[in-house]
Amino acid sequence: MHEATLVVAGGSIPRAERYAAILRAVEHLVPSGTDRIAAMANVASLLYHSMPNLNWCGFYRTFGDRLVVGPFHGKPACIEIPIGRGVCGRAALLRRAIVVEDVTTFPDHIACDPQSRSEIVVPLVEGDAVIGVLDLDSPIAGRFDDEDAEFLGRIAATIVERTGS
Ligand code: SME
Repeated sequence: MHEATLVVAGGSIPRAERYAAILRAVEHLVPSGTDRIAAMANVASLLYHSMPNLNWCGFYRTFGDRLVVGPFHGKPACIEIPIGRGVCGRAALLRRAIVVEDVTTFPDHIACDPQSRSEIVVPLVEGDAVIGVLDLDSPIAGRFDDEDAEFLGRIAATIVERTGS
């Protein structure tokens, strides 16, 4: 059975084990030289189907001063976000992960799906540039924490290192 299938099939297992298995699956899904959009598409699918309590998971890619929606799973989302705006644009501007426990308290949150209650955004940093962000939404407040940020940061780094634009 493919490593990614094992992760998707996983039931109620401790977070550390689940995340370790997901990281192994990413290693299999994204060998060096993989097309960047293909890698984003498979990683969005993998995370959406193997992380509990998500209602959106995907990538925005940088084009000049804007982020444009890329591969994702979930409902259709806003197409463009100016760098600096929303949770995604702010994470891109600051070049760091942002965890929002309750989106109603984040003044500039951009609501693509009214069901979203919490959010995490991790930048994809290549040299001096932020080439995009990885964005996850949850219908549960407080779904994400620093451990998620560290885990997703490792995935973002793997994509940047192993893919070409
Ligand atoms: N909530 C994001 C917009 C993207 S959607 O969540 C898919 C933001 O505030 O940047």
